[in-house]
Amino acid sequence: MTDLAEHARGGLPDKRQVAASFSRAAQSYDSVAALQRKVGQQLLAQLPGSISPARWLDLGCGTGYFSRALGERFPASQGVALDIAEGMLRHARPLGGAQQFVAGDAERLPLRNESCDLLFSSLALQWCADFAAVLSEAARVLRPGGVLAFSSLCIGTLQELRDSWQAVDGFVHVNRFRQFEDYQRLCGDSELTLLSLQTTPETLYYPDVRSLTHELKALGAHNLNPGRPDGLTGRARMLALLKAYEQFRQPQGLPATYQVLYGVLRKEVN
Ligand SMILES: C[S@@+](CC[C@H](N)C(=O)[O-])C[C@H]1O[C@@H](n2cnc3c(N)ncnc32)[C@H](O)[C@@H]1O
Repeated sequence: MTDLAEHARGGLPDKRQVAASFSRAAQSYDSVAALQRKVGQQLLAQLPGSISPARWLDLGCGTGYFSRALGERFPASQGVALDIAEGMLRHARPLGGAQQFVAGDAERLPLRNESCDLLFSSLALQWCADFAAVLSEAARVLRPGGVLAFSSLCIGTLQELRDSWQAVDGFVHVNRFRQFEDYQRLCGDSELTLLSLQTTPETLYYPDVRSLTHELKALGAHNLNPGRPDGLTGRARMLALLKAYEQFRQPQGLPATYQVLYGVLRKEVN
């Protein structure tokens, strides 16, 4: 796989399915989002120190944890929290942090041209098949001098689970991710100036495979790809999966690796 946009023709996870899955996960998400917290904090730390946005957007805000963090960091500014999942917005809205909570798609932002100074997006854009469209929308919506700071996931994420399923039945059981080089190329081709782009592996450990798959479901991030097998996972296949995953076991438990990407881009002042 080189670019998820190519998969759009064959069908990526349907956006309605993505929205429904995250809406269902709105109540459980925060209890299992330790990695998401860590990544979002690291993204916040990468914002240019000089930034003082009059209006910011938390793109793919989920339960709004980072909308609240942005609200605290920039108390004098106006905040917009946007997500494709209505259920997430219903959860986030009463908790505050932003002035507006908006349903929308990162590939087609329902915002006016040059209406924001900061677009912050943590671990949402890996769900977008057309990352070039996301960048083009960011360039449209940002004011000159504005910044897009995002984190996402690259290929290699959940590789242990992917390899284990591959050994069992060869089906796609793990969400697809872009390669780092594709992010690099798409950012380079965009109307924005790339300030930084790097990946960091993060590994979580689980006592068993069920704990990992339950957590993915509680996050709303379990597999939604076309090509996933329908119906119940048979007991024999599940036992084969557990056995295959055991080959990765380390003293801390079963590893699940995430290849986390951080990018910061700026819209130049002409
Ligand atoms: C893993 S959660 C991250 C939530 C939050 N940013 C955080 O760090 O806790 C991903 C969020 O992205 C949202 N999302 C997925 N695709 C989207 C799209 N095309 N446009 C806007 N939001 C999207 C999902 O509904 C979900 O709430």
